[in-house]
Amino acid sequence: MSRIFSGVQPTGDLHLGNYLGAIRNWVRLQDDYECIFCVVDMHAITTWQDPDGLQASTREVTAALLASGIDADKHTVFNQSQVPGHAELAWIFNCVARMGWLNRMTQFKEKAGKNRENASVGLYAYPNLMAADILLYKATHVPVGEDQKQHLELTRDIAQKFNNDFKCDMFPVVEPLIFGAATRVMSLRDGTSKMSKSDPSDLSRITMTDDADAIAKKIRKAKTDPEPLPENEKGLEGRPEAANLMGIYAALSDTTLDEVCTNFGGEQFSTFKQNLADLAVSKLAPIQDEMRRLMADPAYVDGVLRGGAQKARNMAQPIIDEVKATVGYLKP
Ligand code: TYM
Repeated sequence: MSRIFSGVQPTGDLHLGNYLGAIRNWVRLQDDYECIFCVVDMHAITTWQDPDGLQASTREVTAALLASGIDADKHTVFNQSQVPGHAELAWIFNCVARMGWLNRMTQFKEKAGKNRENASVGLYAYPNLMAADILLYKATHVPVGEDQKQHLELTRDIAQKFNNDFKCDMFPVVEPLIFGAATRVMSLRDGTSKMSKSDPSDLSRITMTDDADAIAKKIRKAKTDPEPLPENEKGLEGRPEAANLMGIYAALSDTTLDEVCTNFGGEQFSTFKQNLADLAVSKLAPIQDEMRRLMADPAYVDGVLRGGAQKARNMAQPIIDEVKATVGYLKP
């Protein structure tokens, strides 16, 4: 059976990009695949995290996954640091991956910015840990947003090099699953940059904890251009803000961009924004209500993570044992 692995960082509030680009797709894939979903706290500490904040975020992200419809009984939901195999395999991959490969990673360049000398070694080696996350379970499919594509190509390279170096057929070549109308949700303040947790402007993103007023305000203030909305997709060329808002509408309403253009073509942004705000609130509110309910019961959330980690360790154990033997480590 095909196996899915995907992860999300507990580094502050989840936003609409995380939900539409990843989590919502995960919910839909649960019927057809065996799924492993991981709150990647080890990835989170590649940049500074306040320890109390990290604990709170780990619970909050877990609550968001459950509230969105991830089934933790049928599938596996856990936080990465509870399963030692992630760190063990990441070290082996640090020795398989080449410096030249990591030097090409655009996300490191973006995150490290101008001050590369001061970035953590963990931030640089981050993609190797991500490859370890996936291959620790020999997962075959990885549903992510567009921004993770390069990391998955690296995962494929690492799997192939390991198999070649050790003349074995240990790891599968993973397939990225990047689909839906919102594989790259853009900032509400700038249609050419990605919606992200690290954008200094709170108005740039809708988060999973925003209330109805905040959602409406952020959409009302979203950057636009002076033209009415186009009647077809072609009319969105060179209009990144219109394309982004209409793409979000298409994703939330489960229609195509073309249909949104047909329905709203010729309208002013003000009318469209009102519709978009109503739609966003109606789709997010039930998830947010359930998130609040779960967050009020941290012991329950911790129990879900503990149970998930036990399942994950059981799945990982025979694989990490096999990898260690292949590399030539002596048996304990
Ligand atoms: P993270 O935590 O940045 O994001 C979680 C998921 O959300 C997607 N995403 C977006 N999709 C559309 N538009 C956006 N603006 C947007 N922003 C984020 C991401 O593509 C991702 O799918 N390195 C990963 C976490 C990770 C992982 C893994 C993923 C660790 N190990 C193994 C898959 C497999 C990350 O930082 O995601």
